[in-house]
Amino acid sequence: MALPLEEEVPPAAVSPQDPELEQLEIELLLEAVYRRYGFDFRQYAQASLKRRLWRRAYAEGMKTLTELQARLLHDPACMERLLVDLSINVTAMFRDPSFYVAFREKVVPALHTYPFTRIWCAGCSTGEEVYSLAILLQEEGLYDHTRIYATDINENVLATAREGVFPLTKMQQYTQNYIRAGGKHDFSRYYLAAYDAAQFSRSLVDNVVFAQHNLAMDRSFNEFNVIICRNVMIYFDKTLQNHVHSLFYDSLETFGILALGHKESLSFTPFASRYELLDETERIYRKTD
Ligand SMILES: C[S@@+](CC[C@H](N)C(=O)[O-])C[C@H]1O[C@@H](n2cnc3c(N)ncnc32)[C@H](O)[C@@H]1O
Repeated sequence: MALPLEEEVPPAAVSPQDPELEQLEIELLLEAVYRRYGFDFRQYAQASLKRRLWRRAYAEGMKTLTELQARLLHDPACMERLLVDLSINVTAMFRDPSFYVAFREKVVPALHTYPFTRIWCAGCSTGEEVYSLAILLQEEGLYDHTRIYATDINENVLATAREGVFPLTKMQQYTQNYIRAGGKHDFSRYYLAAYDAAQFSRSLVDNVVFAQHNLAMDRSFNEFNVIICRNVMIYFDKTLQNHVHSLFYDSLETFGILALGHKESLSFTPFASRYELLDETERIYRKTD
């Protein structure tokens, strides 16, 4: 079993007021954020959004969401803090090791038939997923003819991703994940340990382009053989999920692969019939038309 990612435990719900008024304040605040900064959280799943807004309000010493809205409008640094709260960057190397086993077995053989592979890793957070994928592709002899486009809405997490420096304390867990993910070598060959940090090999990001991209607002920017978007859409409401599925459908070539998180699915979306299941548990799909 993968170790639980403790930051995913939601903060305590704290909304002391009339639900209708609270709903109005949330809508106005999200509209204000969108119009002032261009970040569109208007279609994020309500329950977790509400908890995170209240957490930020209390942290800023505010008693209402309207007060928080005023601060957000006038103080970009407060917006940065809210962005961190809302964008939930929890991740890990070889998170869900069984996903990587399935990827090796069911996706890698198809990638060997392509002269060149383009992979979009959407919502990559601080990059652990990207480094994991790069390691897998190197071990499978695919990395040299692959380009990975790694995107996230949050520029701060992308800066960490570009550096590839992760806490040394995490390496024990990541080594276990790597082994269970079918890793073929000694995991420590991929990083240099210095003090309390692990610097991952720069060769792992030679073929990676990191870029800011907002799945809610930005368009497709290429045609891909594989799109990996794990543990991102779980925070979106149905309408936004369908919007992102439409974006992915348009961005995948025919027979392209779509990989979602364990709690995400293509079922009950307008695109369910346009893909076939390659692995039900691991939520790996292949576009068929
Ligand atoms: C929980 S992390 C998932 C990281 C990684 N995919 C994994 O499974 O470990 C979710 C990421 O989605 C990003 N995200 C949230 N909303 C987004 C949006 N509208 N567009 C792009 N990325 C978004 C967040 O910034 C965060 O880094």
